[in-house]
Amino acid sequence: PVEPRVTALLQQMTLEEKVGQLNQYSGRELTGPASNRKTSLLSSISSGQVGSVLNVKGVADTRAIQAEALKSRLKIPLLFSLDVIHGYQTVFPIPLAEAASWDLDAIRLGAHVAAREAAASGIHWTFAPMVDVGRDPRWGRVMEGAGEDAYLGAEIARARVLGFQGEKLGGTDAIMACAKHFAAYGAATAGRDYNAVDLSPQQLWQTYLPPFKAAADAGVATFMNSFNTLNGIPATGHRYLQRDILKGQWNYPGFVVSDWGSIGEMVPWGYAQNAADAAQMAITAGSDMDMESDAYRHQLAQLVKDGKVSPDLLDDAVRRILRKKFELGLFDDPYKFSDAKREKRVLSDPQNRAAARQMARKSMVLLKNDNATLPLTKQLRTVALIGPLAKAKRDLNGSWTVDSQDTTRITSLYEGLSQRAGKTTRLLYARGCDISGTSRAGFEQAVAAANNADVVVLAVGESWDMSGEAKSRTDLHLPGVQEELFRALQATGKPVAVVVFGGRPLIFNDIADQAPAILYAWWPGSEGGAALADVLYGDYNPAGKLPITFPRSVGQIPLSYQVYNTGRPVTKPGDIRYKSAYIDAPNTPRYAFGYGLSYTSFRYSDLRISRAQLQAGESTQVQFTLTNTGKVAGEEVAQLYLRDPVASVVRPLKELKAFRKVYLKPGESQTVTFTVGPDQLAFYNQQLQWVAEPGAFTLMVGSASDDIRLEGTVELRP
Ligand code: IFM
Repeated sequence: PVEPRVTALLQQMTLEEKVGQLNQYSGRELTGPASNRKTSLLSSISSGQVGSVLNVKGVADTRAIQAEALKSRLKIPLLFSLDVIHGYQTVFPIPLAEAASWDLDAIRLGAHVAAREAAASGIHWTFAPMVDVGRDPRWGRVMEGAGEDAYLGAEIARARVLGFQGEKLGGTDAIMACAKHFAAYGAATAGRDYNAVDLSPQQLWQTYLPPFKAAADAGVATFMNSFNTLNGIPATGHRYLQRDILKGQWNYPGFVVSDWGSIGEMVPWGYAQNAADAAQMAITAGSDMDMESDAYRHQLAQLVKDGKVSPDLLDDAVRRILRKKFELGLFDDPYKFSDAKREKRVLSDPQNRAAARQMARKSMVLLKNDNATLPLTKQLRTVALIGPLAKAKRDLNGSWTVDSQDTTRITSLYEGLSQRAGKTTRLLYARGCDISGTSRAGFEQAVAAANNADVVVLAVGESWDMSGEAKSRTDLHLPGVQEELFRALQATGKPVAVVVFGGRPLIFNDIADQAPAILYAWWPGSEGGAALADVLYGDYNPAGKLPITFPRSVGQIPLSYQVYNTGRPVTKPGDIRYKSAYIDAPNTPRYAFGYGLSYTSFRYSDLRISRAQLQAGESTQVQFTLTNTGKVAGEEVAQLYLRDPVASVVRPLKELKAFRKVYLKPGESQTVTFTVGPDQLAFYNQQLQWVAEPGAFTLMVGSASDDIRLEGTVELRP
């Protein structure tokens, strides 16, 4: 048992050794060229003043640095941590893309593969999953989350935690996960990173906390707090969030790490006077480990001596961290995760790449497909592949990759199509233009290629460094002259199938209006090119659905499918006088949450609700028949939405309550059953109680939040 060992060790520790366990530093310098920091950090490690190191990877380096920690008096091993966000060596699609698969098993497998690779390479702990709900695509970090919805986000949070950690910590094919950023980082004002957040308590509980709660319930080993304020208080020093909710109401046994420097940042925020003040506030609020602020290291011992921080509070933080080191088995074998033979074997396992290709296929969303432009048929003799992302490699991986220099393992779209096209199809290529910039010099050659082809595949989008941390944008149109290139190609009269790469919803209204086919590929990872060939040629039938709303213009942001009716809804199309509307654009998005097409079609029929009236606490079954009415096999993500039309707090027009991904052969039907009970009917009332109020509820089943096919009601009796 772990607890007696933790207690025994704690009893031997000096005040300084305890504080040492709460410090985390980046060790990048330790593996790079020599520097002053190198020697001082190494001596801090060997004297027991560091509990964890981030940004060191690989068996050789982690072994060497762990050996330094083992020189300390109590030989407490280090935790090696890293941002393993969407793969380690094998790069999976970005998390937002994975969310578009709505495939929880595949998402879990993706996290497992990443964990297995990382765990074979000396890593104990990843700073993932990011479970922040994101409704503002200006915020570059939407790429790292699961999109805009609390329910989908919670399901994915659970899948990713279980994928990284397995059922129990301690195996050498799993690492600790970290639910971040606690909390409400996704609601940063105006989508500007690191910004303030002002949020009603209902929105916090209803929309932003559920994925964190799901991660905690799944046993996530750690939480990370956040750079933002919440209603005027920096999340890092937020007692209500960390002490009252997380460690209080949720009784969370893991530990909380600060975000990089976020304890120190309470000073420029204007919340703490100085580093000592910040350290006191952070530990009191429940922030256990200090990532890179140097605040605990220099202030905490004195704060304890001065009676400003109680020894019990310090012990609690240390205990939480030591517990994880014991659970991982590091006291029994500090080099458990640093085995050179395993590293070699696991990193070269071909199954990892196969899983990444499969995930990439599942994550792509077919936004438009007029005249069955896709899939490309073998009869097409010449395909012109055009665009600045046609041969891109690094961009396909997106941001938050572990090794951004190495592009050798990445398959570009050009390579994927060349391999798939075989001898029967001729593949022409022209770059056309750059991702950014205004040069149209390549247009002529691109148009010539299009004129010589039967079909054009145009690859456009963002470069890898346009979304991610500190990558907020005010303009979400396709950068540069890419849409102009599209118009030039469209003018040739050849069918143009557009593939869009990016880390967020982008705006491309001309393409959306005029192109016959659009496939949203996100940043699909190292197997992206091969996966795209699978989808474009129809070897795989796309089934992705958007996990985040695509706006028509930046002016509509923030935008979500969870809109309210308002007191002045638009009831007749076009009649917007003194209605809740814009005079220059519709309220509706370009592509709604849950939307995505397939190469086949599905019919929803025969809705059956087992009990139309419920007493408190009871559930009903919602059943319907789903049929593949097309000519090829495919998967459909059937979605259940609910509306509570009259409530003590105004509820949105729709909330996702359940979904099911179903595979059907042509002509095949299946009965799909959802259960609707107290949890689906409830919401947070004004007192923040989770209640289901009596009355009628509308149940909607459909293929997207704006494509409801079946509707019924259920009544909750008083
Ligand atoms: O994990 C990240 C976090 O999401 C943003 N700031 C830096 C951390 C460590 O790299």
